[in-house]
Formats: sequence, C-alpha cells, structure tokens
Amino acid sequence: MTEKELPSYLDQSPEVKDRFDRLKQRPVTMEVKGLNKQFGEVTALKDINLKIHKREFVCVIGPSGCGKSTLIRILAGLEQASSGQVLLNGEAVTEPGPERGMVFQGYTLFPWLTVKKNIMFGLLESGYDKGTAESEAREWINLIGLTKFENSYPHQLSGGMKQRVAIARALANRPKVLLMDEPFGALDAQTRAKMQAYLLEIWKNIDITVFFITHDLDEAVYLADRILVLKANPGEVQEVVEVPVPQPRSPDQFMNPEFLATKQHIEELIHPPSEQEEDDDHLNLVRMVHVNDDVGSVF
Ligand SMILES: Nc1ncnc2c1ncn2[C@@H]1O[C@H](COP(=O)(O)OP(=O)(O)OP(=O)(O)O)[C@@H](O)[C@H]1O
Ligand SMILES: [Mg+2]
Repeated sequence: MTEKELPSYLDQSPEVKDRFDRLKQRPVTMEVKGLNKQFGEVTALKDINLKIHKREFVCVIGPSGCGKSTLIRILAGLEQASSGQVLLNGEAVTEPGPERGMVFQGYTLFPWLTVKKNIMFGLLESGYDKGTAESEAREWINLIGLTKFENSYPHQLSGGMKQRVAIARALANRPKVLLMDEPFGALDAQTRAKMQAYLLEIWKNIDITVFFITHDLDEAVYLADRILVLKANPGEVQEVVEVPVPQPRSPDQFMNPEFLATKQHIEELIHPPSEQEEDDDHLNLVRMVHVNDDVGSVF
C-alpha cells in the first residue's frame, strides 16, 4: 500500500467518534496544568497540559530524553514540578499515594520476597491485616494465573511472569490510576505481545485509568485511546493524537489502514524527514572515517 492510499489519521468512523465524544464527557481523573520541570540548565518539561478522563488509556511516546520518565515520576509524586500542577480527582499531587499504582521497566519486585509476599507488601503497608492481605494477594495471583508460583521467588520466574506480578502488586491496592514506564521494554517480542493483550483484558474489566510510556509505536497505537507525543529539548507536547482504531483492540488490527495511518503520522512527528536526511549524512561520514581509519591493522 502506498502512502497516498492511507486515510488520514484524523478520519474517525462514526463509532470511533462516538466513543471519543463519550470519553470526553467522563470525569477528569488526572489533570496536568502548566507543568514545568527544570534540572539546572535542562528544561526537561515545558508547559505540559493534559486532561486524562476516567478509564482512559493514554500512551506517551517521544525521543529519548524528552522527559517521559520525569513526567510520570511527577504524576507518581516521586518528583516535584518546578512549576505547574498535577491534580488527581481535583486534588493536588505532592507525594506518592495508594490511588496511583506504578509499574516501571526494571523488575521492581523485592527479590527476597515470594510472589505472594511481594503482593502482600503494599497491602500491609496500607493497613490491611495479615489475613485479609493474604487472601487478597491470593485472588490477584489467581487472576494473573500464577497460583502454582505463589511461593516462588522472583528469580524463579520468567520476565513476563515478573511483570505480571508487578502489575498485580500495583493493582492490589485498588488504585484509580496505573502509571507504567516502559513496563514491557525488556521483554522479547512474543512475551511483550502477550503482556499487551493481558493488560488490555485487565483494563477492560476493572475501573482503572492507564498512563503508559513506550518507545514502541505499534505498542502505543495498539493500546492507547490517545497518544501524547512529546519532543525533546525542551520536553514539550507536540500533539495529542486520538487513535482512530476501534475498541476493543485485537492484534488483527495491526494492518488496518487507520492503524497504519496513525503510525505513519506519529513516525513523521518523531522523525521528521529532514532529520532523517541529517542522520543519513552523519552515518555516511562515520563510514568514511571508518574506512580511512587505520583500524584494519587490528584484524
Ligand atoms: N535527576 C535528574 N537530574 C538531572 N537531569 C535529569 C534528571 N532526570 C532527568 N534529567 C534530564 O531530563 C531530561 C529528561 O529525562 P527523562 O529521563 O525524563 O527522559 P525520557 O524521555 O524518559 O528518556 P528515555 O526515553 O531515555 O527513558 C534528560 O535531559 C535528562 O538528562
Ligand atoms: Mg525514561
């Protein structure tokens, strides 16, 4: 299919348009208002504004260093903004809280605790008694299909299983928002695909709003209602894209024209054609230097 045959990513079918109309009428769960973050000379985030509605799935994509992790850490309350505000159900976020569950890329399970105790940990911290925490943890373990592994330690699990436990642990406290920073970034393609389907299944079934950072365009378009595209230096919003692919999602939509059109548009936002040419020049230069260099003698 040539580029010209693709519809515009702005073309929404009546069914998709209707879904976005309804979504925008839902209450705002999280609001980012005029957010700025400065690290010395570096403007990590500049004037970020965004309203995320109840049960919406928002993905964030952008080049390395554009401030994605900084933004999610501020939403989590792990980092303070230089100016601006984050509101969660209308209340200012200043520190981490049980309404926000977090799953980050590195396996953040406690290696010295079993699967069950990892999940119980947050519940006990929130004041559940041991018996209730244990039965809640068991329910989550059952839900993620790891009943046989409840007494296993993280090192005995595969990468996908560890991330399933991390998701269960984050959800066990019944947060309103799930904050995920490249949670599947370290997984192989097959496991990653399974985890995406698994996350969508959870999202469909529980009352949760998801904020999900990824480097992977397919992942963003597959998962998101809307995609926040950031640019670097300074970290600014380039565009908020409404994904025109109907819900519920399934892998057979990956080749749909609206899927491809959205991907192509975001690809162009992140890597404008002029930048690609510059990269090519740079590569040629590297090759020339390499050829003229005297490294041949080491072989
Ligand atoms: N604690 C810090 N101190 C100083 N500078 C920081 C700190 N954290 C982030 N930065 C800088 O802020 C900018 C944004 O970093 P951030 O980690 O948020 O980017 P990112 O989009 O998550 O990148 P990546 O895709 O590589 O994960 C970068 O220039 C980074 O060097
Ligand atoms: Mg990051």
